[in-house]
Amino acid sequence: MTVPGGLDPLLFARARQLVSERTGFRDDAIAPESLERVVRAELARGRTLVDLLTDLQNPETPFAQTVVRASLVGETYFYRHPEHFRFVARDGVPGVLRRNPSRLRGWSAGCATGEEAYSLASCLMASAPPGMPVEVLGTDLNEASLAHARRATYGTWSRRDSGPHLFPLYRPTGEREVVILEGVRNVTSFAVTNLMGPLPDLFGHFEFILCRNVLTYFTPAAREVAIGHIVRALAPGGYLFLGTVEVDRVPEGLVRVGPPELQAFHRPETPLMPAKAPAPRPARSGPPRMTPPPVASPPPEPPRSPSQFHLEALERIEQGDVPRASLMLEALVRQFPDYLPGLLELALLRERNGARAAAYPLMRAVHARAAKLPPDQLVEGPECLPARFYKASADAYLNQGAAE
Ligand SMILES: C[S@@+](CC[C@H](N)C(=O)[O-])C[C@H]1O[C@@H](n2cnc3c(N)ncnc32)[C@H](O)[C@@H]1O
Repeated sequence: MTVPGGLDPLLFARARQLVSERTGFRDDAIAPESLERVVRAELARGRTLVDLLTDLQNPETPFAQTVVRASLVGETYFYRHPEHFRFVARDGVPGVLRRNPSRLRGWSAGCATGEEAYSLASCLMASAPPGMPVEVLGTDLNEASLAHARRATYGTWSRRDSGPHLFPLYRPTGEREVVILEGVRNVTSFAVTNLMGPLPDLFGHFEFILCRNVLTYFTPAAREVAIGHIVRALAPGGYLFLGTVEVDRVPEGLVRVGPPELQAFHRPETPLMPAKAPAPRPARSGPPRMTPPPVASPPPEPPRSPSQFHLEALERIEQGDVPRASLMLEALVRQFPDYLPGLLELALLRERNGARAAAYPLMRAVHARAAKLPPDQLVEGPECLPARFYKASADAYLNQGAAE
């Protein structure tokens, strides 16, 4: 990993180590630009290298906390992955009600600024029988995000066409702002917790847990740890929903429900029998197998179909190979400059990597191209979405930048 120009390599290494220990993030999921920004701001305030190195030894110091916070990615919006909320309303709640629960409880694990927690609360309230209490907990490592969640006021970037307004959730409160309905707000609470540790017992168990777009940044080992903690909090008969490419196997003790791409899992009411251990393989005879020498990764091939190539880039991100995914997306937009999902994906990847200046021209390209299409024309990609979704996403992004 290259050290941003002029930064002390030891300070940079310690900062990365702190972030990875606190969050479970893979090394390549920690954007060097974010660390650089924070360090430079402290140096500009007159703090010395020794001050900063000393602070990093204690995760509770304000500088250490700022370093961790700067690495977190809080991208979210209402009813993101609407198929999960539709499943909860149509299949999940009726399934859970067969156990005659006295209330319905949901947990949004890694809720960022709260859009997911409030969406889940409104979905459960709309789907529960009249009078049945609903409670939703949103947790995150980032206190600043939770402060935003508690304010319950949101701008256009939280409302996107790919997250349709499925259930009563908010009302307008200004020209561009909405506020969460009081009923939804009253049943939703927020707490700072780290998924690298168990959820404290006082929070109890949940019939519905969402943990989406969180584990994608974790090392495989950290992902296993976090999933263990999450599954422990799932009530018998309850449902867990993960992000599209976040796990490639069914978490222990759960069964998959719905199609694989739904990433929805259910805890049966009677525990599953442990899987039989596979019979030991007979010892291989002959010479030991040689590990093949490492092969330099060839440059990305020209895309065959843009969606297929796009999906392959998403898989690279899932495998933790973000640099390669970036290269693939760059190649994709070079060859298919009108492929809106690729332009948007690369813009968001650059934004996540802290390269906002490089994300802007792409967002402007998304806007210009989407504006030329009939708003309801479906655009082929990993998800089939109307042109107006791309225009609205770019609008919201570009306007947000203007407001800052
Ligand atoms: C990209 S947002 C996803 C928000 C929401 N789940 C969604 O899908 O729209 C990821 C969130 O996970 C949080 N996060 C990352 N690592 C965490 C950890 N170890 N414990 C708790 N939250 C964490 C980040 O602070 C961030 O707010």
